Amino acid sequence: MDAQNKIDRARWFEGSSANTSPPTGDLHQPWRLVLLGAPGVGKGTQGELLCQRLEICHISTGDLFRAAGNRKGGDQTPAMADAMKYMRHGDLVPDSVVWELVREQSDFLRSRKGFLLDGFPRTLAQAERLQLFMDDEKLSLTAVVDYEMPQAEITMRLSGRRICAQCKSVFHVTWRPPKTEGVCDDCGGRLYRRDDDNPASIAIRLEAYKHSTSPLIQFYKDLGLLTPVDAVGPADEVFARTMAALQARA
Ligand code: AP5
Repeated sequence: MDAQNKIDRARWFEGSSANTSPPTGDLHQPWRLVLLGAPGVGKGTQGELLCQRLEICHISTGDLFRAAGNRKGGDQTPAMADAMKYMRHGDLVPDSVVWELVREQSDFLRSRKGFLLDGFPRTLAQAERLQLFMDDEKLSLTAVVDYEMPQAEITMRLSGRRICAQCKSVFHVTWRPPKTEGVCDDCGGRLYRRDDDNPASIAIRLEAYKHSTSPLIQFYKDLGLLTPVDAVGPADEVFARTMAALQARA
């Protein structure tokens, strides 16, 4: 993984004033991608590989929520502080606030190099809001990749996941173990297990996905953007399948 690209993923949510250089490199087109798929299907893993290959910015709303939770009040952006108010009361964050969180980073969405959205949109209302923004900016999505995988494999993937606290690299205790236990291969950061990677939270997240996010499949099918990809198998095979599906659309 290119070091600059990893830094960009960790920093993008700091806003356009952060010391962030857009990834550089040759591109045949500005790739503007959305990744769909149930929790644990491998969106973050494939997102890293795609951003490295296509040299685009990885934008993960899950990362953004976790960053907001780890920051002190004064360090939060206005939308982060708003989102935290709902989360403190145990309420779902409304779509309008989620959109504000993304909109604060709209320089990344306007980048002529393109972007990859992972975890956003998650509801029909979020998808419609993104579409309005794209229309206003006279931009269009290149493709919406929908990763498909039987539910049985998801719990195994999530319960063995470990994440780097520093650069956000994703590991798995069995399928992608770090060279030294608990230490990131890429930057030497500390690896941790996410709070929501336990069986009870996984069941709730899968249910939320079924109700809120799966309707997006039809939404993007109707727009002619849906690109289904089988997510079963080693990560490099899934990546090769994804690239082939994207090249077929180019
Ligand atoms: P988020 O962080 O987006 O979580 P998620 O959608 O549940 O997705 P995950 O990150 O859990 O899974 P993934 O598909 O990225 O899998 P990964 O590559 O890590 O969101 C977290 C929470 O924030 C949400 O639940 C929600 O509450 C809130 N939120 C976020 N966005 C929101 C929005 N827009 N609106 C409202 N709320 C929002 O892979 C999983 C594991 O499998 C890893 O260990 C990996 O190493 C391993 N693995 C990956 N690929 C393979 C393979 N091919 N073979 C074997 N193992 C593999």
